[in-house]
Amino acid sequence: MSPSVLPDGDPVPADGALPHGIAPDPSVDFGVYLHIPFCRVRCGYCDFNTYTAEELRGERREDYPDAVAREIALAAAVLGGTRRPAQTVFFGGGTPTLLPAGALVRMLDDVRGAFGIAADAEVTVEANPDTVTEDSLRELADAGVTRVSIGMQSAVPHVLASLDRTHDPANVATAVAAARAAGLAVSLDLIYGAPGESLDDWRTSVRTALDLAPDHLSAYALIIEDGTQLARRIRRGEVPVPDDDLQAEMYELVDDLTRAAGFDWYEVSNWARDAAQRSRHNLAYWRGTDWWGFGPGAHSHVAGVRWWNVKHPAAYAQRLGKGVSPAAAREVPDAQAQVLERILLQSRIREGLAVDAVPAARRTGIAGLIADGLVEGADAVRGRIVLTRRGRLLADAVVRALTE
Ligand SMILES: C[S@@+](CC[C@H](N)C(=O)[O-])C[C@H]1O[C@@H](n2cnc3c(N)ncnc32)[C@H](O)[C@@H]1O
Ligand code: SF4
Repeated sequence: MSPSVLPDGDPVPADGALPHGIAPDPSVDFGVYLHIPFCRVRCGYCDFNTYTAEELRGERREDYPDAVAREIALAAAVLGGTRRPAQTVFFGGGTPTLLPAGALVRMLDDVRGAFGIAADAEVTVEANPDTVTEDSLRELADAGVTRVSIGMQSAVPHVLASLDRTHDPANVATAVAAARAAGLAVSLDLIYGAPGESLDDWRTSVRTALDLAPDHLSAYALIIEDGTQLARRIRRGEVPVPDDDLQAEMYELVDDLTRAAGFDWYEVSNWARDAAQRSRHNLAYWRGTDWWGFGPGAHSHVAGVRWWNVKHPAAYAQRLGKGVSPAAAREVPDAQAQVLERILLQSRIREGLAVDAVPAARRTGIAGLIADGLVEGADAVRGRIVLTRRGRLLADAVVRALTE
């Protein structure tokens, strides 16, 4: 994922080399993220780093794989002897499936050539339900893709309309069937709390999603991102602000319905049919292992160094065309920042956060979190901080209690 506003940071040398004396640990898993920054239209709620055809300033989508190939070659040179086969590859967007399958296959082949891809790797492509066919999914599966994550968002026409989604809800079932026929695992993305969405609407969406028998489900509370069309409409009073209490009820409902369908939560917004269906790529982010994010605005994390690329596809291609790293800036978080980040990320997952990872001065607060029903007592006895359902609803408050 690529947030819309890039942080400040230190400069990155033209060859992209890691800071002196820092090298990846070959025993740490390595993941690859490939950002595909194109969408046919921009949904009113979305502030991902993505561009419609008119916003590309003459940059051509068909040239994009060439630019990515240059960044892959640069990464191979930076990692040199410490290169490891990718355990996971994730094509995210934007809308990866707006590119022809052949373009995605070429990028995957370039990753394979540069790093290798583990034999049992998880390779995911995010897809918009309108932009996949059985043929395109078969081509992806033949090239090594194992999983497709479909942006369903809702099954209810007025909710889709309030989200500016243009896809026909019937296309979700068609896309799922096509993915199954191609032998791919299926994940569905839903959003809850859209303007005008009732609890019954949400129940309909979750049931419809579960009736499609996916292997994995993500359900995100709608976030009103600054600078989006939706934020402007709310400011002008044209649509109401999502109601926190209703969103909490919606979260409980999706948790109940997924559990009844045999799913388990493994991250605050993610449920899987069984452990093998959990997104290994996203778990790697939460666990803090190494990944290289390719593409404009993509973030990377290797050997404790974080960097992020320039945002516009034209600037990205231009820099790589000159043989210069597309990284805009980087940082090496200090020990305090690393502790905070670890708590933020690992408290969200079912395997939890080691009690030892909490600063000693804050550990006394854990008993209070258990008494408040936010943290599981039995797991804490085993040395892990695992959120209860109430804790998942109030995850930010738990993080504050463990850090401030
Ligand atoms: C890059 S998109 C998925 C692929 C494809 N572009 C699509 O939308 O169908 C990733 C997911 O982020 C979620 N998302 C984007 N903006 C959001 C927001 N403001 N609040 C909550 N979820 C959001 C959506 O569920 C979306 O499916
Ligand atoms: S299609 Fe996906 S990435 Fe594109 S604007 Fe909509 S939510 Fe954002």
